Order: sequence, then C-alpha cells, then structure tokens
Amino acid sequence: MTNKDRIIQLSETQDLPDGDYLALLTSMTKEDRDLIFAHARQVREKVYGREVYLRGLIEFSSYCRNDCLYCGLRRSNGHAERYRLTGDEIVACAGPGYELGFRTFVLQSGEDLSYSTGDICDIVSGIRTRHPDCAVTLSIGEKSREDYQAYFDAGAERYLLRQETIDPVHYGKLHPPELSIENRVRCLYDLRDIGYQVGCGIMVGSPFQTPENVLEDIRFMQDLSPHMIGIGPFIHHKDTPFRDKPDGTLQDTLNLLAILRLTFPHALLPATTALGTIHPFGREMGLQAGANVVMPNLSPKGVRGKYLLYDGKICTGDEAAECRACMERRIARAGYEVVVSRGDWRGEPVDSAQAEC
Ligand code: SAM
Ligand code: SF4
Ligand code: FES
Repeated sequence: MTNKDRIIQLSETQDLPDGDYLALLTSMTKEDRDLIFAHARQVREKVYGREVYLRGLIEFSSYCRNDCLYCGLRRSNGHAERYRLTGDEIVACAGPGYELGFRTFVLQSGEDLSYSTGDICDIVSGIRTRHPDCAVTLSIGEKSREDYQAYFDAGAERYLLRQETIDPVHYGKLHPPELSIENRVRCLYDLRDIGYQVGCGIMVGSPFQTPENVLEDIRFMQDLSPHMIGIGPFIHHKDTPFRDKPDGTLQDTLNLLAILRLTFPHALLPATTALGTIHPFGREMGLQAGANVVMPNLSPKGVRGKYLLYDGKICTGDEAAECRACMERRIARAGYEVVVSRGDWRGEPVDSAQAEC
C-alpha cells in the first residue's frame, strides 16, 4: 500500500493498521503531505465548517509543585518568576474577554496547592454567574475524583489534561518518579465519567519519543474518545534538564494534526501557541492541516511574560485586545472565520431512527 492509499483509507474508515499509521508518521513525502492536509481540511469542514473557535486563556498561577523535566514552571527552576492571581483578579479577566467576543475561558496554571477546592469552585462559579452563556475549561493538573466532581458541580464543563505519553517507560523519562501514567489515566477516565468534555494530548518530538510511542498514544486516544486533543511541538527551556534537547518540528506537528483530524473527525483540535512559536505562521498552517481552535492569551499583561513553559513563547507582550485582533487577521488570512460561540464539541450526528424514538 502507498501513503496515498493509506490517506484515502484513513479518511474513509478513520483507522489504520499499526504499520500503516507508522508509515504515515515516518515516511510522508511533500506530495503525501499536501494530500493528507487536503483530506483533513475536507473532513474538518464537513463537521465544523470554516469556523474557528476562540478560547481565552487565563494563565493564573506559575507556581507548581511538580517537576516535569520539560517544563519551565517545574518547581526546581529557581530562575522562574512566580506569580499567582487572586480569585477576584481571575474572574475580572473574563469581563474584558467577554467584550472581545470570547465565550470560553480556559483557566490554566501549575499545580498550585494554595488554591483550595473551594477557591477553584468560587472562581468557576463567579465566571459562570457573570457570564452564563460562556463555558469554563480547567487545566490545573491531576486532582482527586472528588475535586473534579466539585469543579464540575460549580460549573466547569471542560478539562484539559494531556497524557503527555501513554508509554510508562517514556513517561518515566519525562517526569520525576512521583508522577505516574497510571494516575494520569485515572484522572482522564474520572473526568470523562463525571461528564466533562475532556481534552488530552502530547508534545510532538518530546525527548526520547519514538514513532511507536505516538502510535500508542493514538490507540490510547481511540479508547478514551476525547472531545479535544491538544498537540504542539516540544520546545526546550533553558533552565530545565532538557535545555539541550532538540525541539519538535513544524512538519511532524502538522502531519500529526492531519492524522488526528482524519482519525477523530469530531475532535476539537487547537492550533497551539507552541506551534506559533516554532514558526511565525505555524498556527495558520495548523488550521490548514485540520485544526479548528485557537487560544489567544487573556492573562493580565503584567504576568504573561512570567508563564514561560519554554523559550521564545509568543504573545507574551501584547494586550489581550491586540492578541485577539492579531488572531482574527491570522485566521482570515488562513481562509477561516472566527465565531463568537462557546464552540462546543459536535458529536456524532444522532441516528435518525433513534431521534424519532
Ligand atoms: N500544570 C497543568 C498540566 O501539566 O496539565 C497545566 C499547565 S501545563 C504548563 C500545560 C501543558 O504545557 C502541558 O500539558 C505540556 O504538554 C505543555 N508544556 C510544558 N512544557 C512544555 C514545553 N517545554 N514545550 C511544549 N509544551 C510544553
Ligand atoms: Fe507543573 Fe504542568 Fe509544568 Fe508539569 S507541565 S511542571 S504539572 S505546570
Ligand atoms: Fe497573540 Fe498575534 S496572536 S499577538
């Protein structure tokens, strides 16, 4: 089978045997890539049209108790500037965000234990009460099932937690021994059971990653059936143990985005800030490879230069309004359209026989 055959089969059946996924991950030519991007665009337009959903990202604390080897916020990084916003400050970010047309707010942070479960619930319900037509997404790491349930009851409907890699050996090379893939998987299934729209994902080209690891991640995601899949290139940070590791590439990230779009036609796929960091038009190319979400920064200007996961992060000096306007121009240039909408996941169409029951 040629890569062209594989791309057509993946578009038609949303799945491939292991060897054929591996071939697409490792041997696509320029011609193959053009073909897979065209198929990914077609599938994305069938499900989501030409709409791009905006998520306003509020990075509310750069403190983290964890020590993930790849991340600039890791607790051992003594050079990181730390900040945390108060509950009121976090809720206040949503006001101007609403005016700018955001209808989803993503609250992200390091694992900062100074916010209690009640604090997070108050922040979530504070935003939901002021903006009942908006969704709140949390991305605050590994918690107990009880905590996840409490946030959900307070009004959080979506949660982003990348598995990073499903392979335990690879996971162990990226994380300190106290973190385990078993607990991460437990978190993801708890979130799904509770009723969240769940986002998982990986860094493309993370240190020691093999194509077989990426294949295992695709298989894991087929089992989890996430609503969102966040992928972006690994980018080194100068004050981490991975300072000398090579960054993930634009090409590998775009290829995987297209493969994921064909495997998960209904998934929400962001064109990430990391993709925009490794190439000035990375996010535009991401949209043209099947992505349908972007996450402009809504954090207060005074702190956004301090939430540094990796070197060279873009959008750290711009006001929320500038970033939002810049993003709109970029999306239009890529041939897509920003919509003012919560941008919920669009599930499988209900079978007409079922709909009549
Ligand atoms: N602490 C929470 C967590 O880990 O889920 C949320 C914040 S964490 C910074 C969000 C994501 O940033 C991680 O899932 C990871 O994939 C990504 N990230 C961290 N360091 C990175 C790096 N050096 N390059 C690219 N992405 C990175
Ligand atoms: Fe903390 Fe998340 Fe960074 Fe890990 S990836 S060190 S949990 S902020
Ligand atoms: Fe943030 Fe361009 S998208 S400044």
